[in-house]
Amino acid sequence: MAAERVRWGILATGGIAGSFTADLLDLPDAEVVAVASRTETSAKAFAERFGIGRAYGDWASLAADEDVDVVYVATPHSAHREAAGLCLEAGRAVLCEKAFALNAREAGELVSLARAQGLFLMEAMWMYCNPLIRRLKALVDDGAIGEVRTVQADFGLAGPFPPSHRLRDPAQGGGALLDLGVYPVSFAHLLLGEPERVAASAELSEEGVDLQTGMLLSWAGGARALLHCAINAGTGVTASVTGSAGRIDVPGGFFHPDRFVLHRDGRDPQEFAAAPEDGPRDSLRHEALEVMGRLRAGDTESPLVPLEGSLGVMRTLDSVRGEIGVRYPGER
Ligand SMILES: NC(=O)c1ccc[n+]([C@@H]2O[C@H](COP(=O)([O-])OP(=O)(O)OC[C@H]3O[C@@H](n4cnc5c(N)ncnc54)[C@H](OP(=O)(O)O)[C@@H]3O)[C@@H](O)[C@H]2O)c1
Repeated sequence: MAAERVRWGILATGGIAGSFTADLLDLPDAEVVAVASRTETSAKAFAERFGIGRAYGDWASLAADEDVDVVYVATPHSAHREAAGLCLEAGRAVLCEKAFALNAREAGELVSLARAQGLFLMEAMWMYCNPLIRRLKALVDDGAIGEVRTVQADFGLAGPFPPSHRLRDPAQGGGALLDLGVYPVSFAHLLLGEPERVAASAELSEEGVDLQTGMLLSWAGGARALLHCAINAGTGVTASVTGSAGRIDVPGGFFHPDRFVLHRDGRDPQEFAAAPEDGPRDSLRHEALEVMGRLRAGDTESPLVPLEGSLGVMRTLDSVRGEIGVRYPGER
């Protein structure tokens, strides 16, 4: 592991791969040394766009590249298990996009592999690395709103997404749940842990993916979370956490907030805003910095995005899919 600069490899050349690479290039201690795609043409075009030295037309060559400290896996969810697994087997640390995998079984296999190899692995749940979300979590943990009773969160996009789009394709793990619902579910898990019971109802597409899903999560102590996601309805994308002594409201874009408001019984509302040094709210730099800090420390996981937490979220997503009757082709 390089003492100074962390050398990244990028696996896949789609939308988020480009955004993440652009943010990495803004970090002085990050270096993007290689990119891999399913095709050499795409790899070369991406390498040219970002000034990356090595372009591979297959994933195995990137996984085998000894000059790469960590691979960022940015394929559709359906390929996370294969791509991240290939990298871990070859000795590379991995940052893997959300949803962590198609299901809890696949996610568990990745975690076991990373542990067996003694390698760093993290789900790219950038929300958990956001400075204001960390602040919110610290306030709740410190009892600022008393005991948490209710979490509400939604993430809906209006679309419309054509049937050819990744979000409509069952073979790519399409639907609202794994792509968008993972944020409200991860938000509820952050504050309350894994729920005891999961209920859900969904509107499904002709292809058999969820267009919108409503979820009700229950905890033994009485807490409830009301969550929603959609790829056919542009919702407010807000979140709210209500406790026995107050409430925190997070406005639109709750998973990458630039402010939130704390309401406490008998006191004036208090606004918390992002600091200028936090950078743009859609920046992925915080998760990149977390990975690089952990790699330098020799850690194999991040306390901000713990592997057990990612597994718990996958179990909840599996339970939701059991309720709404969504299975992906070839899913074991
Ligand atoms: N953190 C965030 O804010 C955020 C935002 C958007 C998406 N994501 C996550 O990132 C992942 C990718 O999303 P995206 O929006 O970047 O998707 P995208 O634009 O469709 O790109 C996905 C890329 O994966 C590669 N790929 C590998 N296997 C594939 C297959 N079987 N079918 C199609 N493409 C395949 C392709 O690159 P090659 O042609 O180079 O192989 C493709 O360009 C998803 O898991 C998603 O949930 C995260």
